Amino acid sequence: TVDQLTRVEEVEKYLEPFQLSLEMLQEVSARLRKDLIRGLGKRSHHKAPVKMLPTFVRATPDGTEKGDFLALDLGGTNFRVLHVRVEEEEQRVLKMNSQICAIPKEIMLGTGEQLFDHIAACLGEFLESQKLKGQTLPLGFTFSFPCEQLGIDKSILIRWTKGFNCSGVEGKDVVKLLKEAIHRRGDYDIGTVAMVNDTVGTMMSCGYRDQNCEIGMIVGTGTNACYMEEMKHVKRVEGEDGRMCINTEWGGFGDDGSLNDIVTEFDVEVDKTSINPGIHIFEKMISGMYLGEIVRLVLVKMTKDQLLFKGQMSEALRTPEQFETKLISEIEDGLDNTKKILTTLGLDWEPVDACVVRLVCDTISSRSARLCAAALATLTNRIRTNRKLDHLKTTVGVDGTVYRKHPTIELQKAVCLLAPRCDITFLVSEDGSGKGAAMVTAVAQRESCVRSD
Ligand code: GLC
Repeated sequence: TVDQLTRVEEVEKYLEPFQLSLEMLQEVSARLRKDLIRGLGKRSHHKAPVKMLPTFVRATPDGTEKGDFLALDLGGTNFRVLHVRVEEEEQRVLKMNSQICAIPKEIMLGTGEQLFDHIAACLGEFLESQKLKGQTLPLGFTFSFPCEQLGIDKSILIRWTKGFNCSGVEGKDVVKLLKEAIHRRGDYDIGTVAMVNDTVGTMMSCGYRDQNCEIGMIVGTGTNACYMEEMKHVKRVEGEDGRMCINTEWGGFGDDGSLNDIVTEFDVEVDKTSINPGIHIFEKMISGMYLGEIVRLVLVKMTKDQLLFKGQMSEALRTPEQFETKLISEIEDGLDNTKKILTTLGLDWEPVDACVVRLVCDTISSRSARLCAAALATLTNRIRTNRKLDHLKTTVGVDGTVYRKHPTIELQKAVCLLAPRCDITFLVSEDGSGKGAAMVTAVAQRESCVRSD
């Protein structure tokens, strides 16, 4: 009907600001390219929104690593403790066992001491159940927050991101806080510790299977990537030779206002009501912690403007964070799903409402994928020019709930267009943060052996 047609037109107008053209994506990619250079520079670094943090990981696995390791993984959907074995002959990383520990919201927003006591308690319980308490195993700690690393085992938290905000941790050495908590208990000990960002763990765990893997990317609760940069460009670390893995912290892209022209009123609202306003603007347009809320805000406004549900809101729709990101992928799966979900949300819908809601979800998840693609293209293009190659063949290790649950074709298509001279293979990492952390610990040990030989 005419009425429905005008409705569709109005809906499209609403969604226009979320549709980014290829030219705009190229522009975004170019802005990030400049920000990478600012982040790496000695003098420009402290004001740079994209932090480009040295990780002290210089080599990807070469297949001679071996041994038993513990791994901790903090900063994604769950906190996990793992026991991992790296086998030399078969070039395999085996997960011997693992355990998930919940981190209650009070602890996520409590004191640092409470957080680390909780972590140490979970680790203690795991060691007990695995009969590993008497051993002193090396530990890889995947800590998925921006850290200034002074070495592989010294890592200062710059700031919390995502849902965490524990007092007394920013500016402190996280390895030290963990060790202190373990010593407070006094019932077990750990060996050398290696600190890893989840992107680095993901890259390293894929590197074991594919030596071309020189980028790690996460699209989950948060979003971020790391890649292998030439040492001569890493101005804040001494040395000119070889390469070092850089944790870009691309989530912070836009924190200086550089993305203001593409940020929508809904993004502004999500940022304002988050626990860290003004921080990680790019991440807030892409990752799982925020996508559901963006969709909810769009639906609320459309309802207020009589474009949905005959103008009738429901309690669930009105409540912040009630529209979880996982609903987006369920809605994208089909109209029947959409209708079921709308009913669960207490909404009185007509068939056309379901179509509109689905269009909103598609639009917002596709913007997320395309922005990610723009950022990834910046990295592959950089690696290619760094190496003066006409053509680069590279592998990206990927993980994260948003990447796993959404169709990845959009992201891949956009990267191809934005980085035409790069041939990119995506490898979904299995247990990246756990196994990867063990790999970093193993590589660090191998390297320290080589050095002392
Ligand atoms: C946030 C963190 C970053 C992490 C990413 C993905 O952006 O700051 O360190 O890699 O989330 O978990």
